[in-house]
Amino acid sequence: MKTSILMVCLGNICRSPTAQGVMEHLVVEAGLVDKVTIDSAGTGDWHVGRQADPRTREAALRRGYDLSAQRARQVQREDFERFDYVLAMDRQNYRDLVDLAPPELTHKVTLLLDHAGPAGRDVPDPYYGETDGFEEVLDLVEHACAAFLKKLAAEQGYATRLAATTEEPTG
Ligand code: 4NP
Repeated sequence: MKTSILMVCLGNICRSPTAQGVMEHLVVEAGLVDKVTIDSAGTGDWHVGRQADPRTREAALRRGYDLSAQRARQVQREDFERFDYVLAMDRQNYRDLVDLAPPELTHKVTLLLDHAGPAGRDVPDPYYGETDGFEEVLDLVEHACAAFLKKLAAEQGYATRLAATTEEPTG
């Protein structure tokens, strides 16, 4: 059984598609394609069926992440059964997910950025902001996804190429 991760934001057209693309890339790099699977969804339904926002896709592609195959979907109650980890991009998403989840499965929901650095931080919503916002999303998400995957691989005992590439050089 693969470990499954669901990335969640509000619209599923900016932050969570970025997190999905970044994590998929890291999983390939780490040699964990057989072990880890990733999806994304939104708490809202406004953009269901659409591609990620063009600004998101362009910023991601500049760093080598191709999000063109992704289509937005809304989170479903079944997702809390299907996925091992439900990673919220901000605190509002977190609260909405905890409200939606069956009570016995709320422990699956965590804030993505709680896995790297101080607790309680949001990936800021870039939708109504400047282009910088999309770069900031990528910076935050890249850092947190790498930390999450490293921790997951250690916990699960997955042999990974990731550990070797993130170690400090010696000598
Ligand atoms: P996301 O950004 O939650 O990162 O996908 C948003 C996208 C669309 C809207 C809000 C946030 N919207 O209000 O349509």
